[in-house]
Amino acid sequence: MSLRVAILISGSGSNMVALARSMTGDHPARPCLVLSNRPGAGGLQKAADLGIPTEVLDHRAFDNRADFDAALDAVLRRYSPDLICLAGFMRVLTPDFVTGWQGRMLNIHPSLLPKYRGLDTHARALEAGDADHGCTVHEVTADLDDGPILGQARLAIRPGDTPDTLAARLLPLEHRLYPAVLRRVAGGCRAPLMLDDSAPFPSPQA
Ligand code: GAR
Repeated sequence: MSLRVAILISGSGSNMVALARSMTGDHPARPCLVLSNRPGAGGLQKAADLGIPTEVLDHRAFDNRADFDAALDAVLRRYSPDLICLAGFMRVLTPDFVTGWQGRMLNIHPSLLPKYRGLDTHARALEAGDADHGCTVHEVTADLDDGPILGQARLAIRPGDTPDTLAARLLPLEHRLYPAVLRRVAGGCRAPLMLDDSAPFPSPQA
């Protein structure tokens, strides 16, 4: 029986599409749900086009974070996911919620953690004069953008890079790293996968 994967989004859902497309053939997992906290998220239609059930839980309808997270927990439990992938899900989750899914929830973050937790990661890497930048897939724990690192992809910062050019070069790396890590985790491997933009990537099917 395949593992069931719920993917949480807030926006365009390009990482969600990369994850969903990777879960075919002999992959040990299948997508069971795409949930967005934003009704207008572009990823919702993409998920529907891929034949994945969708749910919307508008955070603006809730008085506080704890109430939203309790409702989120209830929706997720209806779909019985084995794993939850946060893919551009721009909500800070409460410790209670995270504890309930501990070890089963992954996130992708656009920096080489532990550098630049939180927002504006591309601008912060440029402002710091870093030579490289990247993305990280990690287990979600109660602390923001913390938790054991499951994989990182690194790219060199070029002269003249802006937050937009960096984001544009990083996104395709995210689309390769996240499926590769998900496949390893679904197969029981949590050793970090370290990739470099100059090195060949394993295909998600590998
Ligand atoms: C991605 O770059 C992802 O790393 C980032 O949001 C983008 C979502 O794009 N996530 C975070 O910043 C989480 N803190 P997508 O909706 O096209 O996948």
